[in-house]
Amino acid sequence: MNVDVLITNIGELLPMNADGAVKGKAMNELEIINDAAIAIRGDHVAWIGSMAETTNIQAKKTIDADQNLVTPGLVEPHTHLVFGGSREKEMALKQQGVDYLEILEEGGGILATVNMTRKATFDELYKKARFHLDRMMMHGMTTVEAKSGYGLDYETEMKQLEVVQKLQQNHPTDLISTFLGAHAIPPEYKDDTDGFLEKMADMLPEIKEKECAEFVDIFTETGVFTVDQSRRFLQKAKDAGFRVKIHADEIDPLGGTELAVEVGAASGDHLAVASDEGIARLAQSDTIGVILPGTSFYLGKDAYAPARAMIDAGAAVAISTDFNPGSCVTENLQLIMSIAALKLKMTPAEIWHAVTVNAAHAIDRGSTAGTIAVGRQADIVIWDAPNHMYIPYHYGVNHARTVLKSGRIMYERQAIQ
Ligand code: NIG
Ligand code: FE
Repeated sequence: MNVDVLITNIGELLPMNADGAVKGKAMNELEIINDAAIAIRGDHVAWIGSMAETTNIQAKKTIDADQNLVTPGLVEPHTHLVFGGSREKEMALKQQGVDYLEILEEGGGILATVNMTRKATFDELYKKARFHLDRMMMHGMTTVEAKSGYGLDYETEMKQLEVVQKLQQNHPTDLISTFLGAHAIPPEYKDDTDGFLEKMADMLPEIKEKECAEFVDIFTETGVFTVDQSRRFLQKAKDAGFRVKIHADEIDPLGGTELAVEVGAASGDHLAVASDEGIARLAQSDTIGVILPGTSFYLGKDAYAPARAMIDAGAAVAISTDFNPGSCVTENLQLIMSIAALKLKMTPAEIWHAVTVNAAHAIDRGSTAGTIAVGRQADIVIWDAPNHMYIPYHYGVNHARTVLKSGRIMYERQAIQ
C-alpha cells in the first residue's frame, strides 16, 4: 500500500470513534490502541492498525511517534476569537473585588471591548484573530468555533463575521461561525433592550444569505437578556434557519439550561449555576453541555459547573476555553483540561471525550471532526506525553509535538539549538 504519511510507533492511540455524542457513564469508557500506526493519503486517514501490520506500507514520509500519545485534533466549541484591544487593566479591579457584572454595568467589560472593536479596522481585527488562531493550532486545536458579539451594531457585527469568513478561506483551521449580536446591551439602547434585540434580529436574513454564520447565540444573564427575551430572539433565529446556542446560567441561575433544552439548542454553554431541574432535562436531551471552567477560575468564582452531576445524570458534556479578552484569556485548551480534572473532578477519559467527539457535536461537526477513523479528514496531534492521563496532569504548558490538519503538518515543536 502506498500512502503519503505514516505515523509509526504510537504508544497510545485514542480514535474517539462513536455513533453520536457520548453521554453519561460512556464518557468514562475509552478505546485505547497500543503500539499503533496511522496511514494518511492526501487529506484523509487511509488506514489504522498495529505496528506489526506496517511492513507492506510504503510512505513518502514517516513520522516516528516515539511511543507517545496520539489523538484527534482538539475541537474548541466556544470562543470569542475576533476582538479589538485587551483589558489587562480590569485585572486590578477584579483583585479589588469589583464584580464582573458590576464592571459591565459601569460600561467596562464587554462594552470596553465593543469600543475597541468598533474602532479597529477589518485588517487589524483579521491580523489579531489570525494570531490567536495560529496559537490555538500550535496547542493542537484543529477545529474552532468563533463568535461575534463585540460590535453590537450592524457594521461591527458584520465586520467581525466577515473576519471569520476570511479566516475560513485562508487559515487551515476549520472555523465555525456564530452570530452573538445579543452579547450585551450597547449604551445607545440602554433603555430599550427589546428594540436592540429587534435590531439584531433584523440582521439575520442578511447573515443567512451571506453564509457568514451557522449558529446564533445569546447571553442570558442578569442585567443582560432575560429568559423570555432570549426565547423570543432564538425563535426568530431558528425561523431564519439557524441552529442556536445559549450563554446560560453563567453567573446567576436564571433557567438558561432549561431554555437551551426547550429550544433544542446544539449546546448550552457555561452552566456554572445550572439547577437540578436543568441538569435533569439536559441529560434527557440532545443538547450538549459546554462547560467553561477556565471562566470560573479566571473570574475567581467559587461556582464551577456541576459537570459530575451532569455526567452522572447521563448528559453529554464538552469543555472549552471560552477564549475572550475578559473572562478567560487563554488559547490553551490543554490548561482547561487540567482545570476540568482539578475543579470539575472529571476523569481523563471524560475530559478526552469533552475536547473531541462531544465538542464536535456541540458545533454540528460530529461527522467530520473529533475522531480518527478511516476516510475522515486527518486532523491528528502527536503529543509529548506517554499516555492520555498525562495531559491534564502536567498543567499550564503546551504538550503538542506535531499537529496535522487534513493530513498536512501545521506545527512541529522545535528543540532549542
Ligand atoms: O462567555 N459571558 C459573556 N461573554 C463572555 C465574556 C466576554 C468578555 O468578558 O469579553 C463569556 O464569558
Ligand atoms: Fe463565551
